[in-house]
Amino acid sequence: MKSKVLGDSNTKFSEIGLGTWKLIPDLNEIPKVVNYLFENGVNFIDTAEMYQNESKLGSIFRTINKEPFIVTKVSPNHLHYDDVIKSCNESLSKLGVKQITLYQIHWPNHHINIKETLSAMEYLVGQEKIKYIGVSNFNQNELEEAMSCLKNNKIVSDQLEYNVAFTEIEDSGLLNFCKNSKISVIAYSPLGRGLIENYKNLYNRLSEIGIKYNVNAFQVALKYTISDKNVIAIPKISSMTHATEIMNCENFDLSQKDLDKIRDITKDIRKPLAGRSLRKILKVNGSWAKIMERHERLRIEKGSKSD
Ligand SMILES: NC(=O)c1ccc[n+]([C@@H]2O[C@H](COP(=O)([O-])OP(=O)(O)OC[C@H]3O[C@@H](n4cnc5c(N)ncnc54)[C@H](OP(=O)(O)O)[C@@H]3O)[C@@H](O)[C@H]2O)c1
Repeated sequence: MKSKVLGDSNTKFSEIGLGTWKLIPDLNEIPKVVNYLFENGVNFIDTAEMYQNESKLGSIFRTINKEPFIVTKVSPNHLHYDDVIKSCNESLSKLGVKQITLYQIHWPNHHINIKETLSAMEYLVGQEKIKYIGVSNFNQNELEEAMSCLKNNKIVSDQLEYNVAFTEIEDSGLLNFCKNSKISVIAYSPLGRGLIENYKNLYNRLSEIGIKYNVNAFQVALKYTISDKNVIAIPKISSMTHATEIMNCENFDLSQKDLDKIRDITKDIRKPLAGRSLRKILKVNGSWAKIMERHERLRIEKGSKSD
């Protein structure tokens, strides 16, 4: 598994990590999937307090032979100083670890001064409760503001939606800005939330490209996302079949000609697969995070028990 340096740090993350939103840790196959991924060089798992699966993931981490890098997020309704500290302590305890490798602000909350949030994050670095500070869903302005507030640390990453059918960060220049600022992009929903098949034309054209590499449309799509040296991806994977396919992505590289071809194919559909309006609402009003949390809790309760 190829690895990439995390921002301006001396830590390397595998270019593919495991995303866990809506992952149901109770499923029998999950510990097997996680172990298989780690045996094949994956070294981190992404979660969030909002996903309400940290305790169960913590139990799974203890079955892995290698020590995983722990990546989690503080919710946007917990961005006041004391709330950040409380959320971090809770995540540490649920995950059963002494340190979170990368602690991210899940969404910006324009009702809370980012300076206050980052001052709490710097305190947590000082206490060695977190190693690196990251953000998520921050646009360039929000990122620049955050960068200017830090005294002794740097923002190492911005977790952003990025996939073959949603390339806003390419078009807005954010991808380049991150690269020039030594901030890693952690691409979420890199498989288009598994919905690529819904875009028949795209799906067929990606499948065609995949023929010569002996891979399918999803593998081509993932590979496109991580073809940029500054991008790490976190697909959500909950079956061994999917896990094997994703790990096979390390066995081929798309040629520049095919990367250009993909850019050309997707030109017409450069729009979100879902969630753009939600993103805007969440950004300006932190109270939406509470609704999201409730929604997440109910969803988990329906399928299995939460943390
Ligand atoms: N920071 C944020 O605001 C934010 C927002 C959304 C997501 N995220 C993070 O990003 C992670 C990934 O994003 P996502 O879950 O939205 O979407 P995704 O990873 O793009 O897609 C997940 C879907 O793809 C399927 N899949 C996995 N491997 C596949 C393969 N080889 N072939 C076909 N389908 C495959 C999965 O099915 P199975 O589950 O059945 O394997 C699942 O249905 C999340 O889990 C979360 O950690 C962060």
